[in-house]
Formats: sequence, structure tokens, C-alpha cells
Amino acid sequence: METIRIALLGAGTVGRALVELLPQHQARFEGLDLKVELAKVLVRDANKSRPGIPGRILSHQVEGFLHDVDVLVEVAGGTTQAGEVVLEALEAGIPVVSANKALLAERWEELRTYAEEGQLYYEASVMAGTPVLGALQSLWGNQTLELNGIVNGTCSYIIRRMEEGRAYAEAFEEAGALGYLEADPNLDVGGIDAAHKLTVLARLTVDPGLPWEQVRARTRGISHLTPQMLAEAHAEGQAVRLVASLYPENGAWVATVRTVKLPLNHALVTMGSGRNALVYQGDPIGELVFAGAGAGGGVTASAVLSDLYKVFLGTPGHLPIPAALPMPKTEVERLEEV
Ligand code: NAP
Ligand code: HSE
Repeated sequence: METIRIALLGAGTVGRALVELLPQHQARFEGLDLKVELAKVLVRDANKSRPGIPGRILSHQVEGFLHDVDVLVEVAGGTTQAGEVVLEALEAGIPVVSANKALLAERWEELRTYAEEGQLYYEASVMAGTPVLGALQSLWGNQTLELNGIVNGTCSYIIRRMEEGRAYAEAFEEAGALGYLEADPNLDVGGIDAAHKLTVLARLTVDPGLPWEQVRARTRGISHLTPQMLAEAHAEGQAVRLVASLYPENGAWVATVRTVKLPLNHALVTMGSGRNALVYQGDPIGELVFAGAGAGGGVTASAVLSDLYKVFLGTPGHLPIPAALPMPKTEVERLEEV
């Protein structure tokens, strides 16, 4: 039986949930003739009590962390220290499973070659446990026409709760208790987290080199929304949502995040608070709708674990589209911004 040694970077909301899930899969791993061992866990504070993680494998020291391990799981977040560890692993030929869309969006130039080689697995980075990245790779046989998504669970949850009469601050706290918030929640409510995810989606579907700065420049959040604005939209038969969109305009792809009005029966409106959804339009496939849980420890850890299965089986990670897609001939109707 082969032993696979996992190095886990981060034991917060997602890391803890993964540590809980792993033992439940041991019998399945054994069925694959594998013994999967949580070998090392790197955190900021190694003195904090961490149920399920023996103290002897916990450390706050990066030095030696990647020595004698077979796969790195990065669920720490951020673009600096996490980035250095991820790059060190990839340079050493260690495959990486990551949920960190900020890192993928902002340090893509350093990561891209490894992603193209299939060494990077990142299903959990967009829509958490709802598997869209693998599905989008399976749509390369189409001409992508347009993509619109609710890809931030925090904003999805806050707006829905405000529609139900909750104050913004109360809804924000509830989202925190559910494990939805980024370590810096300004990334959520400022639309940046959704922009990170849109950048990842765009590189899988239309342009492998889409620059992060281009998406960042067309990103707005939800802080300007008031209960009154939401109520007025409802009275007109519409709902306000933070939507990440990718569409052609004047011969170039536009990737933008902003609040828009949508009809109450739109797929992006009917799917429930905190959840995520993505509506893809392609030719010849037509419209596809993906919806499901988009944030939270357990659902995200499930995607990390599914990626680990791919690593164990030798299946390549998530590949960006091999070359920029030709522009579609038709343009799309613009959503009304709020
Ligand atoms: P979190 O609860 O804030 O946990 C972060 C963990 O990483 C903590 O254990 C922290 O250590 C450790 N850490 C942070 N910086 C570190 C550093 N420089 N060196 C060593 N350890 C470090 O975050 P999370 O919610 O689990 O999210 C983790 C990642 O998953 C992020 O990239 C996030 O965007 C992504 N993600 C999260 C969700 C979600 O719903 N939460 C969903 C999809 C993707 P301490 O415990 O010592 O502070
Ligand atoms: N903070 C993120 C969200 C976590 O609210 O969607 C999932 O990526």
C-alpha cells in the first residue's frame, strides 16, 4: 500500500472541515491501495488548540514544511506568504490543491505554467463545493457567448437577509457565523472576492492570460445598497444582486462585477440566500445553469477533497483554456446597473 503524505497550510474554517472529512474517507483510500496521512499542518499560531490535529504535526515555521510530503493543500488565503509556499511546492514538483482565488487571480503570471502542466487543482476556489471549473473545461467545444454569476456567498446572503428586513450589520454578522467571510471581509462586500473568482472563470473559458487589473478596474461592491433600494426594485418586479459577468463588447471581452437589477424569476434570483449560481451561454450548447452552496467550511472542504482524489489518481488539475477564444459575432444585452 502506498502512503501519501499531505501538507496542510491553514487550519481555519476550511482546513478544520477538511481535517474532519479525511478520516471518513480512509476506507475509500484503502480501496485505492492508499494510506493517506495528514503529515504536517502549518498555521500562524501553533499553540492554539486544534481538535483532530495532533500537536506534533502542527507548526508555524515554513522552513522544512514541504520536506518529505507528496501534496500541498493550501487553505490559508492571501497572496503573499501562501503564494511563496505554493510556488515553492510547485517548483519542487509537489502538486498543489488550493481554495485561494485571490492568489490565483493576482499571481497568475507565476502560477500559469504550473496550471498548464496540470499541477494546480482549484475547484474549491470558485463556488466552493459546487463544481463549475471542471464543468467549464468540459465546455471548450463551444463558443462561449456570455457568463453571469452570483459567486460571492456573503453578498448573496446579506442582500437576501436585507430583503427580508434585516439590517446590513446584522446580516453581515450572520454571514460571519456561517463561515462565509474572507479573513478581510472588505474583499467580500467590496466585490473583490467575486472579481477574483470571475478572473479564474474567464481564464478557463475565454482568455488564459486575462489580466487581473482589467477585472479589478471594473469591480464595485454592495456597500451603497439600502433596504429602500431593494424594496423599490421588488415593487418593480425586480431584485438587486451582485453579479459577476463576462461578455463581449466592441471586439473585446469585458469582465465586470457590480450590482444589477434582475427579474424576480431569473435563475440567479430564485436559488436561495447564501447560495451561488452561474448562468453560461454558449454555442451550440445554449444556456446552462449551475447552482449550489458557494461558501462555508464543509462544502468547500468537499471540493478540496475531491481534488485530492484527482491528485491520488494522477488526473491533471484545472487547465486554463489553451488559447484565447475568438470573439463571438453577436453582442449581448447589458444588465441594468444599480
Ligand atoms: P480562515 O478561517 O481565516 O483560516 C485561515 C487559516 O490559515 C488559519 O488557520 C490561519 O492560521 C492560517 N494562515 C493564514 N495565514 C497564514 C500564514 N501566513 N502562515 C501560516 N498559516 C496561515 O480562512 P478560511 O475561511 O478557511 O479560508 C481559507 C481559504 O479558502 C481562503 O483562500 C479563502 O478565500 C478560501 N475559501 C474559503 C471559503 C469559505 O467559505 N470559508 C470558501 C471557498 C474558498 P491561524 O489559525 O493560526 O490564524
Ligand atoms: N468569502 C467567500 C464568499 C467564501 O462569501 O463567497 C467562498 O469563496
